[in-house]
Amino acid sequence: MNAGLMGIGHYVPERILTNHDLEKMVDTSDEWIRTRTGIEERRIADDNTSTSDMAYEASIKALEDANIKAEDLDLILVATVTPDFPFPSVGCLLQDKLGATKAAAMDVSAACAGFMYGMITASQFINNDTYKNILVVGVEKLSKITNWEDRNTAVLFGDGAGAAVIGPVSEGRGILSFELGSDGSGSKYLYQEPQGFMEMNGREVFKFAVRQMGQSAVNVIDKAGLTKADVDYLIPHQANIRIMEAARQKLELPEENMATTVKKYGNTSSSTIPIALSEAIQEGRVKDDDIVVLVGFGGGLTWGAVALKLGK
Ligand code: UT7
Repeated sequence: MNAGLMGIGHYVPERILTNHDLEKMVDTSDEWIRTRTGIEERRIADDNTSTSDMAYEASIKALEDANIKAEDLDLILVATVTPDFPFPSVGCLLQDKLGATKAAAMDVSAACAGFMYGMITASQFINNDTYKNILVVGVEKLSKITNWEDRNTAVLFGDGAGAAVIGPVSEGRGILSFELGSDGSGSKYLYQEPQGFMEMNGREVFKFAVRQMGQSAVNVIDKAGLTKADVDYLIPHQANIRIMEAARQKLELPEENMATTVKKYGNTSSSTIPIALSEAIQEGRVKDDDIVVLVGFGGGLTWGAVALKLGK
């Protein structure tokens, strides 16, 4: 069976933190943040909203979009680095909140590439005909591991969730090719101290991301037997507009054919790709039969890409 997208949804918290708000918190400026990252504002969850709460909100929409009930789910995979607890998994908390009585559940730890890892893991169960309905969620409450006194990281991140139902689709549709990779020698460039804050060497992550995103995008196009001209839309991990632009240029795509939610949500780690895909579908920027390239990178270091033909 071919694995593809059956439904999608997203959730972002209401509270907006603008660059001007950050000017009052750390030594930075709206101008610096805009020109170096493309970010204008981000969403921050309140103290009473947990990672699993956000996952639930996005999942309800994805299930509705896929026209299935929570009881129909066979498996729940949640990509996150900001779980409610070290254990149980957000997957299990979500299984209970949804009432997904038949579903197995677990979390996937691959940082910002987590949704790609989850999606590809899900697709294997579909391909070998083991499961039919799999919920894959990318969700982060990065605000709780952000050092709000460190201007190197505080300006970059936000909170949010995106969820997709992955299931069997007709021949020629769905996931046409994928690539996953890791390089643990770069683990020192992006990590969280136990019970501490996120730490990052921005320069090193930047160099890696510019190189890897373009390369992975080209690799999945080749593996699918496509050319750059066949690609309708690019959904890169939303970390920094300059990194995203490098990938877009490598694919020779016009500006309007790339998702740029980074402006309003910042970097929400594993949730950027499903949020951006959900909005692109909702707003009609992509539709059935379009070929979309999803590509992410993150702490680990990790990366992942998919060439996806939309439609069931
Ligand atoms: O999901 C993956 C997560 N991470 C990433 O994708 C991050 C990848 N890296 C980046 O996006 C960029 O490296 C940053 C946006 C983090 C930084 O941009 P940059 O162009 O690489 O700047 P830089 O680190 O080379 O810093 C340039 C200057 C420095 O000052 P000096 O040493 O030149 O005087 C920094 O101290 O900008 C300073 N700076 C800031 N100034 C104002 C660093 N952060 C800020 C800030 N506001 N928030």
